[in-house]
Amino acid sequence: MDTLPQFKKIFDKNPVLKAEAPGRVNLIGEHTDYNDGYVLPIAIQYAVTVLVAPRKDEVVNIHSVDFGKTVSFSLREPLTRESKAQWSDYGKGVLSEFRKLGHTLSGMDFLFWGNVPIASGLSSSAAVEVAFATAIRALGKISISDIELIQLCQRAENEFVGMKCGIMDQFISCLGKEGHALFLDCRTLGYELVPFPNHLYDVVILNTKKKRELHTSDYNERRARCEEGVKLLQKFLLEIKALRDVSVETFQKHAESLPEIVRKRCQHVVEENQRVLDFVRALKENDVLALGKLLLQSHESLRTLYEVSCKELDLMVEIAMDTEGVLGARMTGAGFGGCAIAMVKKGSEKKLKQNVMERYPKVTGIQPEVYISTPSQGAQVQWLE
Ligand code: GLA
Repeated sequence: MDTLPQFKKIFDKNPVLKAEAPGRVNLIGEHTDYNDGYVLPIAIQYAVTVLVAPRKDEVVNIHSVDFGKTVSFSLREPLTRESKAQWSDYGKGVLSEFRKLGHTLSGMDFLFWGNVPIASGLSSSAAVEVAFATAIRALGKISISDIELIQLCQRAENEFVGMKCGIMDQFISCLGKEGHALFLDCRTLGYELVPFPNHLYDVVILNTKKKRELHTSDYNERRARCEEGVKLLQKFLLEIKALRDVSVETFQKHAESLPEIVRKRCQHVVEENQRVLDFVRALKENDVLALGKLLLQSHESLRTLYEVSCKELDLMVEIAMDTEGVLGARMTGAGFGGCAIAMVKKGSEKKLKQNVMERYPKVTGIQPEVYISTPSQGAQVQWLE
């Protein structure tokens, strides 16, 4: 797609810089980030790209190539959500957060597009936020650190868009590294890049193409149950601040005191945190059996305790596990549809794709998509003149 001429045609000038930010899959550590826990995502090769040029006035134009539409507003006015054009809210939310930090922004012309599948649990929204924030920071020579930029993007989503997400997606989109998974402590925001054995395994993404319904409200509800669990557990465990502070053994001692739904949600989070630590060890030691087992345990827990899987995701995992060379599989991201991942021995990925393409549509009537993923680089900026 030749987007430079398109920019020139729409805005009658050339862009001055290009920023790119990727989507992600999470290997393990699901619904742990907003509980101050651990996650292990990788950035994927699909990304969102933004072209930008400054303006002399205070007008902002955002053109989406994929939707073929432009949204315009003035920075003189308070920034509010568009009623229809939800796609522009992510960029607008980021602008709003820069302003809240006291940065004076001039008008800008943006043109953006992406190949991260939308509404598929691959963090296309975080990719848009991080691409916009990276472009705005570079263009305005605004001195904020990567961590501050990540937090700003998370606030844009929490406060402007209204999805109470954790920090994982924005973090990996900004700081992912080619060939590595990113082991993140969501409390301290300390992280370690763990080499991913690309020569041995592929991460295969299995997109159910199931439309996610009530995604935001279900997600926010899960988060609320975890917070309720912490409050109830604090009666016995005075020092805890989040589920991250509760070990599997301690949780077992007090689990009975919690209402059933809260208990199930909390049990998932407490055990999932431990699984991330075990998975990182297994990845470093190339303990293939443990890797597979942990992926499956995570899926089972998301299915039965956290209840964010669905029959399409379960079917993907089932088909994957019937394929030779698959170590393990699980749903990835928030759930309620979206994608599953499978860790596959090199050479078996084609067979897996074939099995999914054959079996999945027969049962669901939906045409799935399968992508082979390689751990990719996080956000990047390129000056164009
Ligand atoms: C979504 C959120 C993340 C995380 C995952 C579940 O992707 O944006 O912050 O909570 O769900 O692990």
